[in-house]
Amino acid sequence: MTKHHIALIPGDGIGTEVLPAARRVLDAVGDFSYQEFDWSCERLAREGAMMPPDGLARLRDHDAILLGAVGAPAVPDHVSLWGLLIPIRRGFQQYVNLRPIRARGIDMVVVRENVEGEYSEIGGRLGRGTPDELAVQESVFTRKGVGRVAAYAFALAGRRRGLLTSATKSNGIVHTMPFWDEIVAEHAAAHPAVRWEQEHVDALAAKFVLDPGRFDVVVASNLFGDILSDLAAAVAGSIGLAPSANLNPERAFPSMFEPVHGSAPDIAGQGVANPTGAIGSAVLMLEHLGLDEAARRVTDALSKTSARTPDLGGSATTEEFTSRLLSLL
Ligand code: NAD
Ligand code: IPM
Ligand code: MN
Repeated sequence: MTKHHIALIPGDGIGTEVLPAARRVLDAVGDFSYQEFDWSCERLAREGAMMPPDGLARLRDHDAILLGAVGAPAVPDHVSLWGLLIPIRRGFQQYVNLRPIRARGIDMVVVRENVEGEYSEIGGRLGRGTPDELAVQESVFTRKGVGRVAAYAFALAGRRRGLLTSATKSNGIVHTMPFWDEIVAEHAAAHPAVRWEQEHVDALAAKFVLDPGRFDVVVASNLFGDILSDLAAAVAGSIGLAPSANLNPERAFPSMFEPVHGSAPDIAGQGVANPTGAIGSAVLMLEHLGLDEAARRVTDALSKTSARTPDLGGSATTEEFTSRLLSLL
């Protein structure tokens, strides 16, 4: 079997605690070589940048990237995130962000647009400190960008239970959303077997809480998808459970796998972070690499383990959870 080359970026906070757990699980089910990168807020303090100028080139030849989390209290988030996480998602055209949630009767996938929308670089702050100070940021939605994520979501729904929900806010206020709706509707024609609906994102948030079991695939813009995926994970029990895949579906560039949660400074260093999101991200990576049997074994073990970290009301440490999981593999 071919050996896969994985780039590991633990990053900051609990990223450095959950990524080693994911690596131990990977080593139990397959044969991987790793290159570890110390790109982080610590590196920023030491060397003046989150990653080296040729960072993307160094990642380019790996089969996949596994990332922990980025962000530390001492560093403004726009510096750390625009310095590491966002350039990888954009530079490698990882325009689909898959965020599956399966627990407590919920089995849905949020398909988040991952490179445009509300997360634009157009805008800024003017008149800092003056009474007339202002901040603007343009949302950028393109026919190509919305179309490709809509196409992906329809196809995914067709392989699952056949229901696609599009998150919108087209009730007259946000001008970009009627455009989003039109493009999603155009793609419906090619997928007659998929039932599709659109929901205003505020009402949809309420339905995620009241009736989460009815959702199958949910397609959403960058910001809406970000918020909805934390919400879905919390309804399923904890944001520590949720995995994600930043995919370049054309495979022109490596894809990146990371838990949905952040660096959790409030619990970092205590060894109690739930590694399920990171381990689930490794499972998504195994599937992406075609290692379906290994992915199935880990998913099975995750469903069987009775270990619970504190976020789920238990007292297992990250290390205890991982060891118990490994004993099931
Ligand atoms: P967060 O996800 O780090 O934490 C939110 C809450 O959830 C905290 O109370 C935390 O303790 C808890 N939590 C998160 N993951 C957990 C886990 N695995 N086990 C148990 N509890 C867990 O979100 P935040 O506090 O908004 O952000 C903290 C930092 O992380 C910021 O710098 C933010 O920008 C960054 N961030 C990075 C990413 C990423 O790298 N993809 C994602 C989100 C936030
Ligand atoms: C996520 C995070 C990031 C995002 C932030 C930290 C930039 O919340 O991966 O969900 O919004 O994409
Ligand atoms: Mn988020």
